[in-house]
Amino acid sequence: MTNFPLPRIDKDPELKKLLLPYCRFQIGDIWEDKIGKHIIACIDIADKNSLKKIMDGKEAVLSIQDPPYNFVAFKETNTVKFINWCEKWVKNIYSVLDTDAFFYVWLGADQKNGFSPLPEFMKMMKSVKFKSKSFITLRNQRGYGTQKNWMSIRQELLYYIKGNPGFNIKAEHTDIPKILKGYYKTVNGQQTENIERSKSANIRAGNVWVDIQQVFYRMEENVNGCYAQKPLKAIERIIKAGSKKNDIVIDFFSHSGTTLIGCEKMGRKCFTSDIDPIFCEITLRRLENFRKTGKTGWQNSNPFAKEIINDKKLKSYLTKKYDYKI
Ligand SMILES: C[S@@+](CC[C@H](N)C(=O)[O-])C[C@H]1O[C@@H](n2cnc3c(N)ncnc32)[C@H](O)[C@@H]1O
Repeated sequence: MTNFPLPRIDKDPELKKLLLPYCRFQIGDIWEDKIGKHIIACIDIADKNSLKKIMDGKEAVLSIQDPPYNFVAFKETNTVKFINWCEKWVKNIYSVLDTDAFFYVWLGADQKNGFSPLPEFMKMMKSVKFKSKSFITLRNQRGYGTQKNWMSIRQELLYYIKGNPGFNIKAEHTDIPKILKGYYKTVNGQQTENIERSKSANIRAGNVWVDIQQVFYRMEENVNGCYAQKPLKAIERIIKAGSKKNDIVIDFFSHSGTTLIGCEKMGRKCFTSDIDPIFCEITLRRLENFRKTGKTGWQNSNPFAKEIINDKKLKSYLTKKYDYKI
């Protein structure tokens, strides 16, 4: 395993400055896949005109959004601001979805602050035309707050629909075998047990997902430099349940490009964006790297490894500040 991590880029403005010259994106740029599949844009998703430009009259059947909810810092007014901002992009997205479409959104809940912004977001969604369908919990392996509270190990995923899209029930099975016996029933005069009667030996994915590993540096899909990467397995489950081959899937908070990689693996078209040119570049590099090597991330190396080795300034900055051994 190459031990070549990168610190959180968003928290280090100097590192950001040194990496920017290697980015092929500036605000407003749209990258279109030569083989006609995906789009990566560097835009602010709250701007309706930019969104229209990316979609170019096309409609998506599945929307997976993961906004940066962690900037809501303990003040009521910030939550109001955040929800107003969310309402803007949620409405923008509604307008570019097919008549029948799925809408998923990851959101945090601050347990020290009335679980904000989750309840406020749910309330706002009631005023938009989406219909609520489920409230999914993804269980993390690691957590925080073990000494004075229940350890916090959950990630919230809200699921809504527009119109009446067809849910792919087959996508629901996990790879966890059924182990509990019970629910005996007489069928054709024979007493049968639940496991015998069921179609799969594995349990279905309900709205609590306990079979998905949180991304960390030992996993191939890990993208160092990013801070909020979602597991590919979770994204693939959503893609499978809510889209078919060649369908358009949208994710306007790309960051490490997880939805794009999921779509590439599963033959969907992904229209994605990020407001930050560095995360657009990382998204594109992740796709290029996947197409070249079949690898979904860099594990404990990073997307800018080559540049860091060859660029004296970058190398010396990282060696000094983070004690890099290059
Ligand atoms: C929580 S991360 C998304 C993580 C992503 N799901 C993944 O698996 O890597 C949120 C991202 O949204 C981007 N972002 C923040 N405000 C935005 C805006 N107004 N328009 C587009 N992207 C934005 C941030 O730069 C950040 O990369």
